[in-house]
Amino acid sequence: MGELISKQLLKVRMMERKQIHDIPQEERPAFHVSSPTGWINDPNGFSVFQDRYHLFFQYHPFSKKWGPMHWGHCVSDDFIRWEFLPAALAPDEAYDEGGCYSGSGIEADGEHVLIYTGVIDRYLEDGFHYYRQVQCLAKGNGIDYQKSEKNPIITSESTPDGSSLEDFRDPKIWKDEDGFSLVVGSRGPDGTGQILLYHAENLEQWKFVTVLDQSRGEYGKMWECPDFFPLGERHVLMVSPQDMRARGLEFHNGNNSIFLTGKYDQKTHRFEREQVVSVDYGLDFYAPQTLLAKDGRRILIGWMQSWDAKISPAAFQWSGMMTIPRELTFKKGRVYQEPVRELEQYRRNPVCYENQLIQESTVLEGIRGRVLELLVEITGFSFEHFWIRFAQNDDYEMLLQYNHRRKILTVDRTHSGIDRDVICRRKMDLIPMTGEDGKEIVKLRILLDKYSVEVFANDGEKVMSSVFYTPLEADGILFDTDGTACMNIKKYDICVQG
Ligand code: FRU
Repeated sequence: MGELISKQLLKVRMMERKQIHDIPQEERPAFHVSSPTGWINDPNGFSVFQDRYHLFFQYHPFSKKWGPMHWGHCVSDDFIRWEFLPAALAPDEAYDEGGCYSGSGIEADGEHVLIYTGVIDRYLEDGFHYYRQVQCLAKGNGIDYQKSEKNPIITSESTPDGSSLEDFRDPKIWKDEDGFSLVVGSRGPDGTGQILLYHAENLEQWKFVTVLDQSRGEYGKMWECPDFFPLGERHVLMVSPQDMRARGLEFHNGNNSIFLTGKYDQKTHRFEREQVVSVDYGLDFYAPQTLLAKDGRRILIGWMQSWDAKISPAAFQWSGMMTIPRELTFKKGRVYQEPVRELEQYRRNPVCYENQLIQESTVLEGIRGRVLELLVEITGFSFEHFWIRFAQNDDYEMLLQYNHRRKILTVDRTHSGIDRDVICRRKMDLIPMTGEDGKEIVKLRILLDKYSVEVFANDGEKVMSSVFYTPLEADGILFDTDGTACMNIKKYDICVQG
């Protein structure tokens, strides 16, 4: 059995305690989880334990690059103010020496249960490279976690014939009536993604149940980081496919995250897929995961970064942040997302404009800043293009553009200060809604937190998340159009300190 805290984990804990304090608070996002020190990627173990929200994440504290994966840890009472806790897992056992990859958490019998992927990556004596991914269990008290003596608890031997022995990762667990279930990512005989469902009466003995859904080459290759949950009248299978190709504006090249919505028969375990759409249409979003809050809300959080375009500044000692946690609902045939309602408690200094006409580049008194919420409703559309420039000064700008003729919203960070040849622009279809008066309306709820923008469009029908690292002194906001726009605008500063 592993010691409660291995030497390796102790080393990380000592190091991060010092480094976290060396990073100035002003350099961090104000209300988004950011890396304690070094590199983070996927959210992991997003769960409620002893009435608090716990979030773990893929973590390489020793550098700002991905490396042998640990699990970092933080906790919150309201999804907005987060406190770092000591790192929870280190790759310190034979079955996870290549990394403690992504996984999930639940509370069971008073303990905090984590289930994650252990990576075995070694050269055998005959020179053969042995690589396997296996599922492992750890239990803890909310701070310290002990890995199970029974690890690994699921190996790829249990997968259906022809499945990949190497790609088998990211278990997402939940409790059900007669025990526990989990979904895990895998690759099927055709080499493309599939999601496997397992069931257990106790946490250590898992049985393969069925293949819940498959890519069949249509939606990328490996399917990573699955989640599966009921939402309204449907079930949602959420996966993050690798190596996907763009299709219109619905998906983009590379790593995507998609909602597969459909009907699920609990008895036969048949998932009948009806629709596939992107989870987020911005430049930086991957590997989302959900939790079920005590009040029944399904809350999603994602990693707000792209694997291919990593643009965090060289001077920062941390790399990577998460999205705002989002409440999910199923409406009008799709999954809607809105920032958790707890955010509203932190709104300060409201500024409001009603029926404001915009005909040229316009600064509105009281509207500027980098940590805020901006609610924009466009109600008059005598224009082709409408622009909001933010994080703006003489040298820099971030751009949101609405093209009313084509009904497309674009985020553009070309002039945000980037000095690398990385992708800067992404578009999504955005059809105006019908307002109460029967007329067209486009609603944009824009969250800025220093280095990120999340746009919740049309009451959360679609979301666009992107990071940018523009110097903080660029805090102007300009509204502009090539015709005449009529709009209602509300701005709130988001103040989490004091
Ligand atoms: C997704 C992912 C997971 C894996 C983890 C490794 O971003 O590739 O599939 O568990 O990152 O850090």
